Amino acid sequence: MARWVSDVGPETVIAEMIPYLERDFARWERFDKSPRTASHTPFGVIELMPTSDYEQYAFKYVNGHPSNPAKGFQTVTAFGALSDVSNGYPILVSEMTLLTALRTAATSAMVARRLARPDSRVMAMIGTGSQAEFQALGMRAALGIRALQIWDTDPAAMEKFSRNLEPLGFEIRHASSNADAADGADVITTCTADKALARVLQNDMVQPGTHINAIGGDCPGKTELDPQLLRNSTVFVEYPPQTRVEGEIQQMPSDFDVVEFWKVIAGEAAGRRSPQEITLFDSVGFAIEDFSALRFLADQVAGTEYEADIDLVAEPDDPKDLFGMLGSYVPVR
Ligand SMILES: NC(=O)c1ccc[n+]([C@@H]2O[C@H](COP(=O)([O-])OP(=O)(O)OC[C@H]3O[C@@H](n4cnc5c(N)ncnc54)[C@H](O)[C@@H]3O)[C@@H](O)[C@H]2O)c1
Repeated sequence: MARWVSDVGPETVIAEMIPYLERDFARWERFDKSPRTASHTPFGVIELMPTSDYEQYAFKYVNGHPSNPAKGFQTVTAFGALSDVSNGYPILVSEMTLLTALRTAATSAMVARRLARPDSRVMAMIGTGSQAEFQALGMRAALGIRALQIWDTDPAAMEKFSRNLEPLGFEIRHASSNADAADGADVITTCTADKALARVLQNDMVQPGTHINAIGGDCPGKTELDPQLLRNSTVFVEYPPQTRVEGEIQQMPSDFDVVEFWKVIAGEAAGRRSPQEITLFDSVGFAIEDFSALRFLADQVAGTEYEADIDLVAEPDDPKDLFGMLGSYVPVR
């Protein structure tokens, strides 16, 4: 995966993945959907994310352990599979740690293209960990944004971010606080990891007309935004039954008004309605995005050196004689 992304270029991968996402969001109602299955522990969460369009089926296994980096592990890792619904056989098994970062960035970019002001020039990036560079590349692909104002409680994470992105032509200002990062930003991406009802973005830090791309609040008891900000914004979500449990809107009443983003893509709901409106993408990550990413990947790597055959399915000559495959088995007396 790393070799493929590096050879093609992450910004190109993100840009070329967007049409796959748009195509699947446009036919959202065709998919078999359910909130992801989450196994919570004091350490973090492990989640399974399945979906199907009745031709192909996909699932992702993903963890979220905010305390992992302090122990030398990543907060998020993932792998997943795509299979053929007609016979249930797997088509592709893939690493999805990198692919998740790319698909999350591509999803943010697809959304920002409809919700951010087209004249957006500056993005605040609050949280500069693993996902952050991908988010910046996604916003450049979507909106042409090159000016970034960044803030992280870990100065080393900010240094790492600049080291990775300055050579790619970004102008990066290291802010002195979350408020300083948000000051004058057209788009604000929050991308922190903390298993807490955190407030990395307060209502009074946000100017009219801003688009907020809220990535990090994606688990019960794990949010990033001041609830007043949700009341002052038009809130767009992926799949309400999942987002009401996991997203920023877990802080709001169960009938809090949201727009399902697929409706914007399908032409059934408006995106941004005025230059003054505050739009907010309450992203938690939904299975259809991983389905789109796996389909994109499968198309891109088919027949190339980036894929390899693995012998994953036992295939007896007689489909009923699985035991017969153990031909040399001699019972021990
Ligand atoms: N919405 C989605 O689809 C999606 C996809 C992937 C990851 N995520 C979430 O995005 C978040 C970031 O993931 P990651 O892999 O980059 O994690 P990471 O641990 O690599 O980076 C998170 C960064 O946030 C910083 N941070 C923590 N609290 C902060 C605060 N109060 N103010 C400023 N910075 C703070 C940390 O120092 C760290 O550098 C996680 O919460 C993860 O669960 C969401």
